Amino acid sequence: MIYREIMEADRERILKLRGNLVVSRGIGHSLQDLPGYLAEIDGEIVGLIFYRIAERECEIVSLDSYRENQGIGSAMIQLVKQAAHGENCARVWLITTNENIHAIRFYQKRGFDMKALHRFAVDEARIIKPSIPLVNEEGIPIRHEIEFEMLIN
Ligand SMILES: CC(C)(COP(=O)(O)OP(=O)(O)OC[C@H]1O[C@@H](n2cnc3c(N)ncnc32)[C@H](O)[C@@H]1OP(=O)(O)O)[C@@H](O)C(=O)NCCC(=O)NCCS
Repeated sequence: MIYREIMEADRERILKLRGNLVVSRGIGHSLQDLPGYLAEIDGEIVGLIFYRIAERECEIVSLDSYRENQGIGSAMIQLVKQAAHGENCARVWLITTNENIHAIRFYQKRGFDMKALHRFAVDEARIIKPSIPLVNEEGIPIRHEIEFEMLIN
């Protein structure tokens, strides 16, 4: 397994694999323009994380593991935490949505705490990204954004 920074030469491959637009807190983010890390096995991308740093805050804009339960998601969070620390950030934060029970569990087990509930924020996000489904595959409505944070000292 190799973990490394995403380079310009990776961008087209990532676009095909992951798509580009992520909406959080009413802002559309183009992953193509953000720094990030990838996990690779034999040249195959098995994990991706993108982040953005502004005003001493680091947002994890997206995290995807394509081989779950092997430590990839946790390792990628560690990489972003190190980057945030290096940039003197006060906190790392992220948005997940109400139906993503697995992510809610995952982030809390990795030291993130719930900071805020942004009710009906996904309705606003759909204005920017209409392809966001109304319900997930289990039938849970996708409506609210939950903000998680981890303070860095
Ligand atoms: C949430 C997500 C990123 C987690 O990624 P992951 O690579 O499975 O994460 P990890 O492997 O680090 O951790 C998952 C579990 O595997 C366990 N694990 C890690 N290495 C392991 C190993 N070698 N053997 C067995 N289990 C292992 C971890 O302990 C963890 O279990 P726990 O939460 O009970 O402690 C992934 O499920 C995902 O991509 N989901 C879809 C996209 C998504 O929801 N992203 C986040 C929304 S913002």
